[in-house]
Amino acid sequence: MKSFSIFVTLLLLLLLLIIAGATANLQELCKQATASSTIVTYDFCIKSLQPIHGSNEVDAKGLAGITINLSIYNLVGIINMLSDLQSKTTNQTVLDALNACSDGINNGNTQLKMAQTLVSNGRIQDALTSVKVAEGSSDVCDNAFNQRGVQSPVHDAMHDPVLVCDLADLIIQLLA
Ligand SMILES: *[C@@H]1O[C@H](CO)[C@@H](O)[C@H](O)[C@H]1NC(C)=O
Ligand SMILES: *[C@@H]1O[C@H](CO)[C@@H](O)[C@H](O)[C@H]1NC(C)=O
Repeated sequence: MKSFSIFVTLLLLLLLLIIAGATANLQELCKQATASSTIVTYDFCIKSLQPIHGSNEVDAKGLAGITINLSIYNLVGIINMLSDLQSKTTNQTVLDALNACSDGINNGNTQLKMAQTLVSNGRIQDALTSVKVAEGSSDVCDNAFNQRGVQSPVHDAMHDPVLVCDLADLIIQLLA
């Protein structure tokens, strides 16, 4: 009986160590990734990735994949917002801006999907080039609206999604 409870205690200790180690892993990767960034903070990295299943158990390469997927998911959300606005607007100027913005984000998303493959094939520099296109998609959108004298209806909504693209870039850089 005594040896059984010692066994259970040891098992619990081991579990705690594994959990603590895994969490420290995400913290360590977020710390390394954001150390040199003036845009993406450590807290943003933790806040964005902690809730995602598996983010505590992966290495830098796995975390890059998770972050790219999160970027894709977020940008799809913006594309859906845009298509909702497209279906409601009758003003051709606004419609043109919405289309140009949507094209820019779709292009960014295509590049993110390529980056996912490139990362898993170890082509880190090419992956970074692709992710940069997605990072630039908020500028593409802002320009599409500014050029037409229209205020972007998705400017604020794009803030965090683009930060997640920046974060993907930073995590991929850890693999270089
Ligand atoms: C990214 O998402 C795709 C499609 O949902 C999935 O098959 C893949 O396993 C995900 N990759 C990572 C690294 O989470
Ligand atoms: C379309 O929207 C733009 C920007 O808001 C505005 O300047 C223009 O007058 C609108 N055009 C029409 C026909 O309502």
